[in-house]
Amino acid sequence: MLLTTPPMGWNSWNTFGTNISDELIRETARIMKEKGYLEAGYQYIVIDDCWSLRERDERGYLVPDPAKFPHGMKALADYVHSLGFKFGMYSCAGVQTCGGYPASYDHEFQDAATFAEWGVDYLKYDFCNFPANADGQNRYAIMSMALKSTGRDILFAACNWGTNEPWKWMKSLGVHMYRSTGDIQDNFKSFSSIARSQLPNFCMSGANCFNDIDMLTVGMYGKGNVALGEACTDQEYQTQFALWCMLGAPLMLGADVRAMPDFAEKLVLNPGLLAIDQDAEGRVPQAVYQGRMIYNGPDVPGGWEEYPDTGLTLFKHLSGHRFAVGFFNFAPKPGQVPFIFADAGLPATSGFALHFRDALTGEDLGMRRDYLNMTVPAHGCRVLTCTIEKA
Ligand code: GLA
Repeated sequence: MLLTTPPMGWNSWNTFGTNISDELIRETARIMKEKGYLEAGYQYIVIDDCWSLRERDERGYLVPDPAKFPHGMKALADYVHSLGFKFGMYSCAGVQTCGGYPASYDHEFQDAATFAEWGVDYLKYDFCNFPANADGQNRYAIMSMALKSTGRDILFAACNWGTNEPWKWMKSLGVHMYRSTGDIQDNFKSFSSIARSQLPNFCMSGANCFNDIDMLTVGMYGKGNVALGEACTDQEYQTQFALWCMLGAPLMLGADVRAMPDFAEKLVLNPGLLAIDQDAEGRVPQAVYQGRMIYNGPDVPGGWEEYPDTGLTLFKHLSGHRFAVGFFNFAPKPGQVPFIFADAGLPATSGFALHFRDALTGEDLGMRRDYLNMTVPAHGCRVLTCTIEKA
């Protein structure tokens, strides 16, 4: 199965947890179609954990909970497909899912056949309740082969939270994306540390096998299943979405898209940011600045305050001789994030300059030589695109 750009879609877990149903999935699909999410690229609608009964049937098959999914999974998949989406489901490599439902250990081929029969196009595969004497890598290999044996194209989304450095081996097993970190929570500290923890590993992410830094929390505003700690502000959600896009990570929405506040909806549908995530050349960024932020505003008694290691500038090659630059400020105060062009390969002697636009608004920001320091709000970001032109 060919997968050239990071998968995009929606997953039930972040907001709904165990509280899922046929109706919720249908409504979500309808709204995502109506509001242009599908057209923007959000293709996969994924049911996460807690969809089945607590026991398999007498022949060992997984059974959708009839109270939550009274029409069964095939009918739901057909409906989701009829709107133009792809349909995703969830299981786990251990003996039980993280929520305590039957999982696929030693049932891999049986379950893969069931998923294929239902019309599943995407399988998220978790790692809870895994036998201590079993081999994790081998079990992901087995499920990958089980999916292949069905003859259906099923995107295999492994989720072992970074156990044993999956960026080094998941690709070789036929996996299409792998969760590289623990679970996201809907707060600034959680998403920013998740994204930053993977900066060194993104060089191994790309077409057909993407590093997955978890479902987004953009638009949750403290409501739902992973709403822990202080809810994010609009500014912080913009930083989250921009990080995911600059890194070329899968974009799986986790908010209730049926009731998405305007700012968040515009953000996740922003064509400029989506184009950076989905760029055809599929590059990952270089961190051209990772260092301190200094704040010297009027409210600082000693004149200035220093925040070590809180500035980050990401530079990414795009298709068509274009580039994207993301300036991130992880400090709780506004500050200047630097970009020295020589760090991206454009020294002062080159005779060339960069012509910038704001990636979100398209605003022309003019030509610059040598360097650009961006003033960035607390916990905020600026994302620009640029072309290289004669100075
Ligand atoms: C794990 C995964 C989450 C979610 C839950 C479901 O924690 O990492 O993304 O799927 O299980 O129980």
